[in-house]
Amino acid sequence: MRMELITNVSEYEKLAREKLPKMVYDYYASGAEDQWTLRENREAFSRILFRPRVLIDVSHIDIATKILGFDISMPIMIAPSAMHKMAHPEGELATARAAASAGTIMTLSTLATSSVEEVNSVGPGIRFFQLYVFKDRNLVRQLVKRAETAGFKAIVLTVDTPILGRREADIKNRFILPPHLVLKNFEALDLGTMDKTDDSGLASYVAGQFDRSLCWEDVKWLQTITPLPILVKGVMTAEDTRLAIENGAAGIIVSNHGARQLDYVPATISCLEEVVTEAKGRLPVFLDGGVRRGTDVFKALALGAAGVFIGRPVLYSLAVDGEAGVRKMLQMLRDELELAMALGGCASLRDITRAHVVTDGDRIRRARL
Ligand code: GLV
Repeated sequence: MRMELITNVSEYEKLAREKLPKMVYDYYASGAEDQWTLRENREAFSRILFRPRVLIDVSHIDIATKILGFDISMPIMIAPSAMHKMAHPEGELATARAAASAGTIMTLSTLATSSVEEVNSVGPGIRFFQLYVFKDRNLVRQLVKRAETAGFKAIVLTVDTPILGRREADIKNRFILPPHLVLKNFEALDLGTMDKTDDSGLASYVAGQFDRSLCWEDVKWLQTITPLPILVKGVMTAEDTRLAIENGAAGIIVSNHGARQLDYVPATISCLEEVVTEAKGRLPVFLDGGVRRGTDVFKALALGAAGVFIGRPVLYSLAVDGEAGVRKMLQMLRDELELAMALGGCASLRDITRAHVVTDGDRIRRARL
């Protein structure tokens, strides 16, 4: 297929696969172990159906929203993902430009191939910084300060990765960050490269550097080192929702890390309502994982998400066409969300309600009555 003929977000994957070295494509695409959750993240969306409303004035569709007090153009944001320069030479800088021109938020990964300062230098834009907590807490302190100084507006704390999940393609490929690239945030600290091992080079890096003892107390600790709001990313249960609130989180991202950590966890869209119900509006709840269509965004909003984050499609569209690719990908999701809203009878995000969707759970409950 030619790039010009791409008509939906999922189609970027095939072209990216043709373009990227196998080691890189496999790294981006892989889920953990049997990849059950990877498939389920998509399939669970397909089991949610709409209850559209008709004869509602949808001549103006408004999808602008406010996230943590920041005005953005749509409830669709960019999730953190590592090492964008493996996809395209401009890497995270192209992604940041595309996000800014779409009027939405980009989350930069700790494991980015561009530094917080470089990303800041692309110009205005609302950006969050994803944090992995390393064993060396001084290093964490410095990194968070650098992100603050570089204008990042929130910390997205990933909490599902004490150890890297087992991605078998990476083990087979002996995945390593290509030697011409560097984990830019750590360049000056001599932690910017990965050693070749007979495992995934990233898994070895994580085993060496990440703090496996990270716990809820550290969410409080983080608040002592930064005034930035903290979004806890990787919550899947009501129990952890309660703890996130008790420990001062400003928001929760329901995430299974793109199905790359613990396999056989449910799809994020299947866990969303449990988290939203427990949160009781005390903090915003977001979702990432498997979002490929505007209808997926609509479904997540109907189940209570304040917005969604997009992961792999960013990498694939970046690989295919750089900044323009990411821009087009975001525009397609935007157009699809507006279309789904018009056809579902919702003129604004506020109009999207729980009554607009039917889930498996609803069907089972109804059958029992
Ligand atoms: C990096 O964060 C990864 O999950 O591969």
